[in-house]
Amino acid sequence: MKTASLHVHLLQSYASEFVADLRGQLDPGIQVSLRDDADGLASCHVLVAGRPQREQLEAAKRLHTLIIPWAGLPPETRDLLAEFPFISAHNLHHNAGAVAEHAVALLLAAAKCVIPFDQALRQGDWTLRYAEPRDAVLLSEKTVLILGYGAIGRRIARICRAMDMAVLATRRTPPYEGDGIAGEIYPPHALPALLPRANCLIIALPLTPQTRELIGANELDLLPPGAILVNIGRGPIVREEALYQALVNGGLGAAGLDVWYNYPRNEEERVATMPTSYPFHELQNVVFSPHHAGLTADTEPLRAAHLAGLLNAAIAGQPVPNKIDLSKGY
Ligand SMILES: NC(=O)c1ccc[n+]([C@@H]2O[C@H](COP(=O)([O-])OP(=O)(O)OC[C@H]3O[C@@H](n4cnc5c(N)ncnc54)[C@H](OP(=O)(O)O)[C@@H]3O)[C@@H](O)[C@H]2O)c1
Repeated sequence: MKTASLHVHLLQSYASEFVADLRGQLDPGIQVSLRDDADGLASCHVLVAGRPQREQLEAAKRLHTLIIPWAGLPPETRDLLAEFPFISAHNLHHNAGAVAEHAVALLLAAAKCVIPFDQALRQGDWTLRYAEPRDAVLLSEKTVLILGYGAIGRRIARICRAMDMAVLATRRTPPYEGDGIAGEIYPPHALPALLPRANCLIIALPLTPQTRELIGANELDLLPPGAILVNIGRGPIVREEALYQALVNGGLGAAGLDVWYNYPRNEEERVATMPTSYPFHELQNVVFSPHHAGLTADTEPLRAAHLAGLLNAAIAGQPVPNKIDLSKGY
């Protein structure tokens, strides 16, 4: 049933263009308060925040819905929400297209040695053109295994199919049947049987208790020689040391990594934080990107549009999309 009014509080600061764009798409019954509005938190029904603090949730006496304005549930937010079972938590999947494109960009860069070629030729060095054996990999007719067949994984699958790759995927819940894009879809426990078939392994999973360190030395050993790994899910899904060792000892051919193990904690650290404790930066067969997969010039307008969609559903009395199941962790 439609409610007459809904108060939404944005906990973090957003550009004025974003706020104006959001307001322009909202049902007239929705009131938006901003971070610096001292009373906004106390009276809001919906809070937009990724990592709210306990005292903020306690202060928001009318709160029934938390919208995390991206895809994923930070472990600390998951733990906190367990204490507030009456709050329904939701994600936004506004940047799934951008993340899928970036995953494929990393896959292609790793497969085609784009970064080492670029770096050498900038120095006038053509020797890689003549080097044998050749490191560049043909992806056509090879098999990609996509872990996580959600908003991002399904888009990656479509692009890989268009490159004439065979697509295998895993997801948590049935149906486990090929859908014409992924030829075969399996439950998580099929992983050991699938890895030996995977010339490319793309991780598009949420970080949950089940996926943390899902890929370790044993799993990497099961991949065929020269396999390429791409991670756009979360760093800790792959064991850091095992990944480094596999890249050094040739167990893995190459990797493209957007998500990491160490992040800057403040603005000063943004210019001096290595993303891992291992010397991945010394390896030629790794492509780095700074957790940027979802960020394009279109990201904020898309975030505003998707957020407006959830809020308009809430005031219309419809189910709010993208509900997070805390017991599953995504
Ligand atoms: N790098 C970046 O900038 C960036 C940006 C956005 C998101 N991400 C990451 O990408 C993740 C996925 O995003 P999304 O939008 O695709 O989420 P989503 O639509 O919720 O999809 C998650 C997929 O993972 C599957 N899954 C969950 N646990 C699994 C397990 N143990 N084994 C196999 N599959 C499992 C789910 O299975 P079901 O289909 O059965 O539910 C679903 O298919 C996010 O949680 C976030 O960590 C990264």
